[in-house]
Amino acid sequence: MTAEPGTRVLQADRDAIAAAAGCLAQGGLVAFPTETVYGLGADAGNGAAIARLYAAKGRPAFNPLIAHVADVAAARRIAVFDASAEALAKAFWPGPLTLVLPKQPDCGVADLALAGLDSVAVRVPAHPVALALIAAFGGPVVAPSANRSGHVSPTSAAHVLGDLRGRIDMVLDGGASTVGVESTIVACLGQPSLLRPGGLAREDIERVLGRPLADADVPEERDAPVAPGMLASHYAPKARLRLDTAMPRAGEALLAFGPAPEFAGTMLNLSPRGDLIEAAANLFSHLRALDASGAAAIAVMSVPHDGLGEAINDRLARAAAPRT
Ligand code: TXA
Ligand code: MG
Repeated sequence: MTAEPGTRVLQADRDAIAAAAGCLAQGGLVAFPTETVYGLGADAGNGAAIARLYAAKGRPAFNPLIAHVADVAAARRIAVFDASAEALAKAFWPGPLTLVLPKQPDCGVADLALAGLDSVAVRVPAHPVALALIAAFGGPVVAPSANRSGHVSPTSAAHVLGDLRGRIDMVLDGGASTVGVESTIVACLGQPSLLRPGGLAREDIERVLGRPLADADVPEERDAPVAPGMLASHYAPKARLRLDTAMPRAGEALLAFGPAPEFAGTMLNLSPRGDLIEAAANLFSHLRALDASGAAAIAVMSVPHDGLGEAINDRLARAAAPRT
């Protein structure tokens, strides 16, 4: 894999992780693998690095970042845990769950990364490279998904380079992300509520809480959204998407799920055997590949809404939304 001068691409071995930690400590921007999607990391305490991160992504600075930490103890230094948050962290960390919690007074995360909120998003990722990088760096690493703002999240180092080559310092290549959609975001600021469906199914969270999650009411457009990244057109490929369709029209590509119809055009299947976990893992790479095929539109077969289907349908709806 080649990159323009300025972005080093390293296989994520021990030396590379040490180099990446050094780069973060100097205010650099390092893309690294997590089990959900690749993140673009910066030192959580370095406002200048975070400003560069927003610029590299083309991300509006009102959109706050997730602080990635090595364990619950580190998360408690940043955020205030209530009983629900403790239970969820115990059950699901490390893993594809982000908790939005009241921030500690001296949380050490730069104001710019918090976008002026009194809450902070924290997560312990379940990826050996991500955990080794955080440990080697020795502090929280803020990381949005490593894509240009508005693009589909990257699940491989190649995707990261496609969006950010020349704009960031380093990419740690740790292979494909296994979960494939972003973490589920739950706010524990009172009654636990679901801010973003993601790689951990709602049902699993509700089982631990012993009650249903409240749904965050996220209006499409407002100045300070509950999860500001949840704007309707946030995950847009170039091609138009036509959802819940069994048969593509002439000139369309097909994104299939389960048994697919006979189709002569470009087709990729999220999961021929109809498995939602496999489908989530393939979602963004298949969207990117069909987009790159040059089709003006992508017909998408319907995907069930249970389990990880909630997150898959959420991302598909955003990818299909009119562009803002
Ligand atoms: O799986 C993931 O979560 C990946 C990997 C890299 O960890 N990260 C990720 O980050 O998806 P990002 O920045 O693309 O999405 C984080 C979402 C955004 O929608 C942001 O608005 C929301 O989290 N968020 C962050 N802090 C928040 C807060 N204090 N309150 C509400 N939403 C928050
Ligand atoms: Mg993102």
